[in-house]
Amino acid sequence: MDKKRIIGFLAAAGLLLAAAPASHADEGMWLPALISQRIGDMQEKGFRLSAEDIYSVNQASLKDAVVLFGRGCTGELISPEGLLLTNHHCGYGQIQKHSSVEHDYLKDGFWAMSRSEELPNEGLTVSFLDRMEDVTDIILKGYVDSMSESSRDSLVKANSAALIKEVTAAGNGLRATVESLYYGNTYYVFVYREYSDVRLVGAPPSSIGKFGGDTDNWMWPRHTGDFSIFRIYADKDNNPAPYSEDNIPYTPKKYFRISLGGVHEGDFTFVYGFPGSTQEYIMSEGVKYVSEISDPHKIALRTRRLDIQRKYMEKDQAVRIQYASKNAGVANAWKKWQGEMKGINRLGTVSSRKEYEKRFAAWADGSRYEGILDALDSLYALASPYMFARDYFSETAATVEIARFAQEIAKLSRTHAGDDDIAAAAEKFYKDYYLPIDKECFSEVMTAFGENVPEDFRPEYFSSMMQKYGSVDSWADSLFASSIFADKSNAWMFTDSTAVADDPATVFMREFGKWYSSRIYPEYARLNGEITLLYRDYMRGQMEFEPEKAFYPDANLTLRVAYGHVAGYSPNDGVYYEPYSTLDGIIEKDNPEIYDYNIPQRLRDIYAEKDYGRWTEGGQVPVCFIATNHTSGGNSGSPVINSDGNLIGINFDRVWEGTMSDIVFDPDYCRNISLDIRYVLFTIDRLAGAGHLIEEMEFAL
Ligand code: ARG
Ligand code: GLU
Repeated sequence: MDKKRIIGFLAAAGLLLAAAPASHADEGMWLPALISQRIGDMQEKGFRLSAEDIYSVNQASLKDAVVLFGRGCTGELISPEGLLLTNHHCGYGQIQKHSSVEHDYLKDGFWAMSRSEELPNEGLTVSFLDRMEDVTDIILKGYVDSMSESSRDSLVKANSAALIKEVTAAGNGLRATVESLYYGNTYYVFVYREYSDVRLVGAPPSSIGKFGGDTDNWMWPRHTGDFSIFRIYADKDNNPAPYSEDNIPYTPKKYFRISLGGVHEGDFTFVYGFPGSTQEYIMSEGVKYVSEISDPHKIALRTRRLDIQRKYMEKDQAVRIQYASKNAGVANAWKKWQGEMKGINRLGTVSSRKEYEKRFAAWADGSRYEGILDALDSLYALASPYMFARDYFSETAATVEIARFAQEIAKLSRTHAGDDDIAAAAEKFYKDYYLPIDKECFSEVMTAFGENVPEDFRPEYFSSMMQKYGSVDSWADSLFASSIFADKSNAWMFTDSTAVADDPATVFMREFGKWYSSRIYPEYARLNGEITLLYRDYMRGQMEFEPEKAFYPDANLTLRVAYGHVAGYSPNDGVYYEPYSTLDGIIEKDNPEIYDYNIPQRLRDIYAEKDYGRWTEGGQVPVCFIATNHTSGGNSGSPVINSDGNLIGINFDRVWEGTMSDIVFDPDYCRNISLDIRYVLFTIDRLAGAGHLIEEMEFAL
């Protein structure tokens, strides 16, 4: 689309928003079973299928082509023979496990050229949603208003267990969970069929699948080919079965047809997947804790650690490899929190919720909801020092690598694990351990602990160490000099349970752990329980206060529908981001000197020859696109579907300016990032030469 049309489009969208201030354009993660309530809106926005096409218990529907991949990602079926797509970062653990020095699939990619080369993955499962049902009446059967909360809990647990037993009685891979929605106002049962023979079929090299690395993570424009391919296997009756050579490819009830029709600004998009966790209905005090206390502190702590890691990683190639994955883990949430905090502040969410709360309180006056916000407010005041100590513990003491390892070995020796297990644990730990980083991080985070955690919330142990050594640095010198875990050559002592138990690194973790589990966690859990309980009423109150508004339940790793449209955005004054990226952009970023941007030579050659195959639009190879779908962590790997129900992309990220959407959605900034399906096919076909996989798929224009 040319610039003028984009501006015209933006103006139209702007006008629309101005005309309908109450509209939450494209916000929402809807329950598939209730999608008939949204289908009118979806169709108005361009969707051409019916509610039954999305979710049905009577016939095959799109839900049968979507799976929970592992326990935190989404995947989709794309062939009649059980071929499945997800993200590269979702299959990362499996790809890594199959890698060795001789064949490094992370570095070089992996492509099974025949079924017999597909690699089994112990522990990996995929779950199909068989059905979901409102079971509030069954779960609360026997409940009376006078019941104490703990009796209610026990009742819910017992009723849930009985129901789960009943709905999974047929066996055959059936698995069920009962989930609370709207803070326990509603309960749903989710019945899944879980398959456990899931084999790795293909993965591009990381220089495609993780292109841009952490530099580009959470960012737009993006050029990451974040996909991997698996295949589900079943027994001869198509039922779930543990891995066996005799298993055969699973025949899905439904699989996606792939659209080659392209992705254009304004096009309807539908993301079908498993978002993990959001808190859209929390009060101002809860938002304030996130944006003014927790996010800034956690970001500052991680900035210190990342700076130290980076300093050593830049100096030494071996250290760079050792800390690549750790660094990525630390940086991922760090970057997300920055966008979240900025977004909340930019939107003024704390004050807008305060305004809302004023109106709510006026309405609630004299009703059963009177005083609820004041009560929540006081609870937050009581809880926040505990919430803070908890956040601080997890970002400081709990991140000291040597202490975590000491704790692991202590546990192994307590449980009388064999010498082999201890040796294996040590092998794994030292492979990726660089003491100068750990020691400097220790000094930094413990200094911050002393500066920011109020005296009466610190462990005695901390004060006594500070007294003994006079400074954090001397304490670190002593701990790292005298711990047997500081050096791999001491590994022969790790089976000596006394030496392990008395080691200063073990003592460090034990003392912090004791303090946390006796002084912080119990009070945190108690107050948090009371807060959650009040939210049950506040949630119901909000629904009664605004009866016209459609409330979608917070994400809880259950299947959801998020619909929106392809759209660019303006991150800053004077800047407008177009919604697509192309292979040209990869070539622009390509730099053999920079690890994150060093593409495979083969891609350079293909580019030079313009030998793209049929995976182009206007002579370009499309790579990624952004849209307004409301997604969250867990939506990684989700199918992105067009108005005809065909697959146009794979969701893998959000733009960081929009990561506050877990708390508040802003149609101007919140964008999900997807991989264009044509780049996936281009990679399989041109780069990997695995065209036999494409033969399995079905295409639509
Ligand atoms: N930001 C994405 C998510 O939250 C991708 C993370 C993996 N990629 C990375 N470069 N660390 O999961
Ligand atoms: N990358 C995220 C995931 O692994 C999805 C991005 C998000 O949080 O929206 O689930």
